[in-house]
Amino acid sequence: MGKTKKIAINTGGGDAPGLNAVIRSATLAALNRGWEVHGIRRAYMGLLGEDEIVPLTRDAVRGITHMGGTILGTTNRGNPFTRPIQQPDGTVEAVDCSDDVIAAFREHGFEALIAIGGDGSLRIAHDLYKKGLPVVGVPKTIDNDIEGTALTFGFLTAVDIATEAIGRLHSTAQAHERVMVVEVMGRDTGWIALFSGVAGTADVILIPEIPYEIEKVSEKVVERDRAGRRFTIVVVAEGAFPAGGAPVFKDPKTKQLGGICEVLAQEIAERTGKDTRAIALRHLQRGGMPISYDRLIALRFGAAAIQSVEDGDFGCMVALDPPYVRRIPLDIAVSRQKRVPVDGDLVATARALGMSFGD
Ligand code: F6P
Repeated sequence: MGKTKKIAINTGGGDAPGLNAVIRSATLAALNRGWEVHGIRRAYMGLLGEDEIVPLTRDAVRGITHMGGTILGTTNRGNPFTRPIQQPDGTVEAVDCSDDVIAAFREHGFEALIAIGGDGSLRIAHDLYKKGLPVVGVPKTIDNDIEGTALTFGFLTAVDIATEAIGRLHSTAQAHERVMVVEVMGRDTGWIALFSGVAGTADVILIPEIPYEIEKVSEKVVERDRAGRRFTIVVVAEGAFPAGGAPVFKDPKTKQLGGICEVLAQEIAERTGKDTRAIALRHLQRGGMPISYDRLIALRFGAAAIQSVEDGDFGCMVALDPPYVRRIPLDIAVSRQKRVPVDGDLVATARALGMSFGD
């Protein structure tokens, strides 16, 4: 057995099914090496005194592999480089507290941080690494948009939830001869929409990588009606937008996406005269138990991250490259967003099945 180490784990950004499985796997892999493990609660807040640092023991991680959410809590307002601090005059300013994070990390005697997060959290981890923090990243997000890994954990669970919803909407759409517009998450990428749309046999799939024309979408609805298929299922990614147009924001100030299903449902109704309904699946896609494959990816990532610490390999991210889990430099992982390849076989398969992308 090597030298005893004291390491920390945190979870940042939006939650994704499988976070607890990574925490359990990394914790047990470290404890089995004789190391000490602590969880920093709510991303970096535990290091900034706004929350706690909790010991991760065998008891603390018992029975959590199947649980959604994260036992450590998370926040997507936890960037220590731009921490909102109230000023004496009442205004709120973004203050760089990264030096405080690094100082607190060292004061606690931590020798490594396993940072589990999506692109925002991995970017923070990368910036902290450049300032001297020994970090190993673990890619998490239901959006599957992290460069360098075949899959992020949480994605396939979200796809399963969306696929089931699309399946259920078929029968009610058919019964009422309606058009159902189902909005799924994914930010600026169409991974969830494409996977669930194809698996759930949607008729129209709209993704940000292929800007749509509303006339083409309406034509598909009318064409199906003429062929006696008097209902249509449209799956739309929250970040999809029409050619020459812009995405729909729930809150234009924060650029929070959401609401395109309502806009589309109305436009389709006006153009086709069909009865339409809009459904946004929103956070249902992130809640609950991870499916088995996401648990497996998460458990593999947790063990691989600890191996990376043991090897003294920092500034990297564990990544799925089937049948292996490898490590890639964090700067590559955060260099760009992984988007759906429009010339990929899944888009081609959908087209071969007669599905429309509205283009
Ligand atoms: O990145 C994960 C994600 O669920 C996106 O798909 C979605 O746009 C966003 O987070 C929602 O964020 P919030 O939980 O802050 O509403």
